[in-house]
Amino acid sequence: MDQHACEILPRAELEPCTIIIFGGSGDLTSRKLIPALLTLFNSGQLPEHFSIIGCSRTRMTDRQYREHLQRSGSAGRSAEELQGWQAFSRHLHYFPLEYNPAGFARLAAHLRRQSGSRQPSANLLFELAVPPRLYPLIGELLGQAGLADQTRGWSRLVVEKPFGHDLATARSLNTTLHQFFQEEQLFRIDHYLAKETIQNLLIFRFANAIFEPIWNRRYIDSVQIMAAEQLGVGTRAGFYEQAGVIRDMFQNHLMQLLVLTAMEPPYCLEAEAVHDEKIKVIRSLRTFSAERGSAIRLGQYSPGIIAGSRVPGYREEAGVAPHSTTPTYARLTTYVDNWRWQGVPFFLVSGKRLPRKQTRITIQFKAVPHSLFSDSLGDGIRANTLTIETYPEEAIRLSFQTKNPSPQLCLRTMEMDFAYHEHYPGPAPDAYGRVLLDCMLGDQLLFWRQDGIEASWAFLEPVLEACADCGGLQQLHFYPAGSEGP
Ligand code: BG6
Repeated sequence: MDQHACEILPRAELEPCTIIIFGGSGDLTSRKLIPALLTLFNSGQLPEHFSIIGCSRTRMTDRQYREHLQRSGSAGRSAEELQGWQAFSRHLHYFPLEYNPAGFARLAAHLRRQSGSRQPSANLLFELAVPPRLYPLIGELLGQAGLADQTRGWSRLVVEKPFGHDLATARSLNTTLHQFFQEEQLFRIDHYLAKETIQNLLIFRFANAIFEPIWNRRYIDSVQIMAAEQLGVGTRAGFYEQAGVIRDMFQNHLMQLLVLTAMEPPYCLEAEAVHDEKIKVIRSLRTFSAERGSAIRLGQYSPGIIAGSRVPGYREEAGVAPHSTTPTYARLTTYVDNWRWQGVPFFLVSGKRLPRKQTRITIQFKAVPHSLFSDSLGDGIRANTLTIETYPEEAIRLSFQTKNPSPQLCLRTMEMDFAYHEHYPGPAPDAYGRVLLDCMLGDQLLFWRQDGIEASWAFLEPVLEACADCGGLQQLHFYPAGSEGP
C-alpha cells in the first residue's frame, strides 16, 4: 500500500513581496518567468500581496506590457495554463529603465513610493533576465541605489547562469555582487536542481537503506551522466559561440548531477549542510590530466537529418562563424579522488543535435564476481544498472537478470521501474516556479553557493584549455546532426 510522509513542519509563510524583473520585455521573461509565476498564482502559491514589475529600456505602459506578455507567453499553452490570466495580470506593472545611476535612483524612488502605499514593496526580489555582461553593472547599480539594503524588508538577487565565463570572471562577478549583497541574498539558479527526479536523487539515496551500502567503488563500475539534446543552437549563437558545451552544460548542470550522485550524506537537509557536502565532491575531482586517466572528446555537429528533415551544421547556423571551432558535444572522463569513489570513472556526456533528447544518470554496477553460468552462457551476463532519468520520462529503473521460462538455461534482463507520471497524475511542477518560490522563501537549498561555482570553474579550467586548443582542429571531431556523436 502507498504510504506518504510529508514535511511535518509547514514551510515558512510567504511574505508580501515585489518581484522586479530586469529584462522584463525579453524572451526569458515571457517564455519562462511569467508562465511559471502564473502557474504559481493559479495554484494559490503566491503571497496574497505581491506585484511584479518588468523593467527594460523599451517605453511601454502597464496595459501594453500586459498585452505583450499575454501575446508572447500564450503560444502553445493550454486553456488551463492560461486560466487566471485576468486576475494575475492586475499584479503586473512596467517601469521603463535605463541601466545607469539616474535610472536606478528613479526605480528606488518608485519602489519607496509603492511601499508607502498598500503595495507590498518592502521585500524585493530582483531577477536578472538580462545578458550576463549586465550582471555586475546591475548588481552595482542596485547597491548604489540602496536597493540591496535589508533594513525595511529583505532584498534578494536572482542570478541566471552563466556565472562568469571562467574562474577569473566568476570570482570578479562574486566580488562585485558581494560589495552590496551578502551571500544569503544571492540566488544562483540552476534549473536542473529544480527538476523533480533530481531532487528525488537525495531522497532515493538517503531515505532508503538498501542502496547506500553498495553506493561505492566496491560495487559500482562506472557512472555515466548524460544530457543529450536533439535541438541545435537555435537563435542563441551569439551566446553559444562564446560558451560552447562545456560552459553551457558542464560547468553547471552536469556538475550538479555528478555532485548529487557522489556526495556523502549531509547531516541535515539545510542548504548550508548540503552545500558543504557538495563542495567536498567538487574539490575531490581529479585535476584534469590525460596521464592520470582523464579524457575529453570534443565534437561539433555538421549537416544531417533530424526526425526525417535536413538540418544545417553548426557552422551554417545564423550568427555562427564559418570556421567556428566551438564544441557542441563533449564526453569527459573524470574521477572523484576519495575513499568512496577511488578508481570509478565518471563519464559526463552532453551534445546538441543528437538523435534524441535524453537526460539521465546511469549507475553501472560491477559484474557478478564468479559466474555459475559461464559454462553455458559464457561471460554474457549483463551487470545491473540503475538509471535515474529526467527525460524523456521522469523515472528510476533497476535492471536485473531473470531466468526465461524454458527447459534451457536462458537469462533475460528485466527492469523494475518507477515512472513519475504513472503515480502522480497531472503535469510535473515547473522547475522555474519551484526556484522562484524558494527565492521568496529565502531557501537556498536548490541554488549554487559561491564556493561551488568557483570550484567548478577551477576544475574545468584545464578542460577549457584543451577546448581552446581545438583551434588546431586535431581534437574537434565533426558528427552529422542526428548521429550518436563523434
Ligand atoms: C540550458 C542551456 O541551461 O539548458 C541550453 O543553456 C540547454 O543550451 C538547456 O538546451 C537544457 O535544459 P533542459 O531542461 O531542456 O534539459
